[in-house]
Amino acid sequence: MLPCKSLRTPPKQLPRIFGRALRPFSVSGIQCQVKFKSYNNKSISLSIEHKTVLLNNIFLRDACDSLRSRDPYSKQKLFTTGSLDVTIRPAREPRFITREDANSSIRGLQVDWSDGASSFYTEEFLRRYANAPQNCGEGRDLKSQMLYWDLETLRENEQEIVHNITYDKYMNDEKTLFTALDNLNKYGMVFINDIPEGKEFIMPNGKWAIENIAERIAYIRETFYGRLFDVKNIKEATNIAYTSTYLPLHMDLCYYEAPPGIQILHALQNSTEGGDNVFADSYRAALYVKEADQAAYDALLKVPINYHYDHTEYYYAYSRPLITEDPVLGGIKEIAYSPPFQAPFERGILEQDAHLFESFMRGMKLFEGFLNDPKNQYVIKTNERSAVLFNNRRTLHARKEFREVGAHSERWLKGCYLDGDAFDSKLRVLYRKYGAQ
Ligand SMILES: [Fe+2]
Repeated sequence: MLPCKSLRTPPKQLPRIFGRALRPFSVSGIQCQVKFKSYNNKSISLSIEHKTVLLNNIFLRDACDSLRSRDPYSKQKLFTTGSLDVTIRPAREPRFITREDANSSIRGLQVDWSDGASSFYTEEFLRRYANAPQNCGEGRDLKSQMLYWDLETLRENEQEIVHNITYDKYMNDEKTLFTALDNLNKYGMVFINDIPEGKEFIMPNGKWAIENIAERIAYIRETFYGRLFDVKNIKEATNIAYTSTYLPLHMDLCYYEAPPGIQILHALQNSTEGGDNVFADSYRAALYVKEADQAAYDALLKVPINYHYDHTEYYYAYSRPLITEDPVLGGIKEIAYSPPFQAPFERGILEQDAHLFESFMRGMKLFEGFLNDPKNQYVIKTNERSAVLFNNRRTLHARKEFREVGAHSERWLKGCYLDGDAFDSKLRVLYRKYGAQ
């Protein structure tokens, strides 16, 4: 498995965001002290690792976290950026001091501002923002930790993704929880195994195991499918997930403004013939398109795909392109791919857009060609007593056709969703506690 920053096929034009590290900011080797050089009505000049760095006065004053500027309990800012004096400057020469308390000693720059505020900037802060924006996402940006995969590279890490985590350890050992969530972020999926059957699948605490698995991370994201949902073979189902037919690679709920970030499926019963789960990495597929045909990739960013769920009681609809890049950070922000829930195209199909749509179709064929190649799919018949957690905005899932064989042959998956924000929050907190793995 290779990190997204150094794929087997190097992402020559991959946006800058890929390659940041989540590790707490540190520079290997011996660091020189940050030194003060000069100041004026625009900026403060520092020497960091023998390089001169200018930090803008307004940026520094805006980042002030003194008691006057930021509530120490809520950590919320007590002034607005627009209220700052644009001519703000240090009232006297800034100086490095060391703040001592019972447990620590921190060196930083003391600045008394012309508006009366007094600020203290730690060396870590100054180093971090001296390299803005490159290092500023550390501890926050989880995408840079993602490892794109095809089948071969996934197999190299199959043990830790699929087999290593047990329900007992996941529920009772926080480090194991961290490992599981870190894997889920890195690879887009992780399995939890040896889930107790309980009494008719209800755990001693009166909950379904999937509720315990989900709530170990965050609150469950309810949708119109309910708080929990059952994937079973139902006659005349309004969703093809609830049939026994082949369900192609897709993401769930692309017709929502904010589709759930994480999906969990717990195989309560899986004794039918067939019904294997198929997974594929849509980010890796998007990168493949970008490397193969930039114009086609660009068209995939532009042509909106209409997704809908249009039935008597519900009419959900949302339009989004196949690939959305992050306008601020760069890199892929999200992918939306759910062919069963597509509505007719409305834009990109007019005569004047013919060239764009041609490029779009080239891109779709490259994207789907990559995903449908068995070399890029991970196929597994999820064990009964196992659950898979996957990134619903990245990892595409499919189900092979199945049929009941015998009276007790049944396929019953229990499912639920989590908000991506809630998952990210939990993982960041665990990173802060345990550091990058
Ligand atoms: Fe699905």
